[in-house]
Amino acid sequence: MIKKIPIEALKPGMEVVQVPGELWQHLPYLYCEPGIIESETEVARLVELGYREAFVTTEEAGDLSDEVHLERLISGSEIGREPRERTPFGQAIASTMVTYEDAMVHAMQIVQDAKLGRKMDYATSLKTASAIVESAVSNPDTLVCLAKLSEFDDYTYTHCINVAAISVVFGEFIGMSRDELVLLGVAGMMHDLGKTTVPARIINKPGPLTGPEREEVRRHPQFGCDILRHNRDIPERVIKAVMHHHERYNGSGYPAGLSRKDIPAFARILCLADVYDALTSDRCYKDAILPNKALGIMYGMRDQDFDPTEVQLFIKCLGIFPAGSFVKLNTGQYALVFETNSREPLNPKIRIVMDEKMNPIHTRDVDLTAQPEGDGTIEILECADPSAYRKNLMNYLTRN
Ligand SMILES: [Fe+2]
Repeated sequence: MIKKIPIEALKPGMEVVQVPGELWQHLPYLYCEPGIIESETEVARLVELGYREAFVTTEEAGDLSDEVHLERLISGSEIGREPRERTPFGQAIASTMVTYEDAMVHAMQIVQDAKLGRKMDYATSLKTASAIVESAVSNPDTLVCLAKLSEFDDYTYTHCINVAAISVVFGEFIGMSRDELVLLGVAGMMHDLGKTTVPARIINKPGPLTGPEREEVRRHPQFGCDILRHNRDIPERVIKAVMHHHERYNGSGYPAGLSRKDIPAFARILCLADVYDALTSDRCYKDAILPNKALGIMYGMRDQDFDPTEVQLFIKCLGIFPAGSFVKLNTGQYALVFETNSREPLNPKIRIVMDEKMNPIHTRDVDLTAQPEGDGTIEILECADPSAYRKNLMNYLTRN
């Protein structure tokens, strides 16, 4: 496993690793030159250069795979709610798809309104968030699946809705009331509206940002609040969540440098959902990280970026193989995870969709917890990279 640590905690012999993804380009203080730290002098030099944090490999998990380590982490914790009765995935997915598509249309609308300085249609925001909450209560896996596999290309809108959906799923998992969940969903949809004020050439710049460009990006939470404050009906709780969604547990975030529980709860949840979606999104295909790897990285960011208990809960909520994960089986076949199992996180419900050569086959659903004893037991070996097959994966889950 890897862990993010303060730069002063680096020791000779530790291995610095480079974590893929563009999420880090706004973190100029992250040292990410991969390799073994040779001496105390080298650490002192990095401190002097102004680096503050680095990802390192840790011994605590030994040679365990990410899956096994996360499984131990989840089964060792007493936190989180007992699983509840849900509408079966096959019944719930159709209405969640309608909800998701409507939400996408609304996301486009609010981004346009923000760009043009128009008043938000807050009543529709509430209606959209309420529908997302209904889906989360009915079957949260349907939302997590769509957040991973939907085929909308524009990251700006998709990210708004994904953050809303994942935040609401997590909020529901930790027992928030429906009224709170609706406001959390609204905050998720609106969390990055301030980016409409930042010049597009900066937002869409493929390479690393310059210092002034980075500063401009870091103003987007404030810009977002300015936009929302023009709309008198938007509750202060939503505005505060937008304002503080880039604060960090150790106080290293922005804009206020708040730490720990001084960061509003909604903002802490948005932050978890924001990072998870940014890590697992295909903004450019080579950079997307598999869901289980992303959760491993986020666990490595505990104590620095996230409250350790809260990130543990988040992992427990999404599972080791989050819904929508494309996995390789011990039979050589490939399957999609469509329902997680918080009691037995290594054994979700899967739909087998491809043979060893990735040719489509007649699909078959298997509940990995309900297999007969014997030689033919099916197990998940690992997450497989779905990027090349992404276009078709959602279709496998929507037809019976
Ligand atoms: Fe943001």
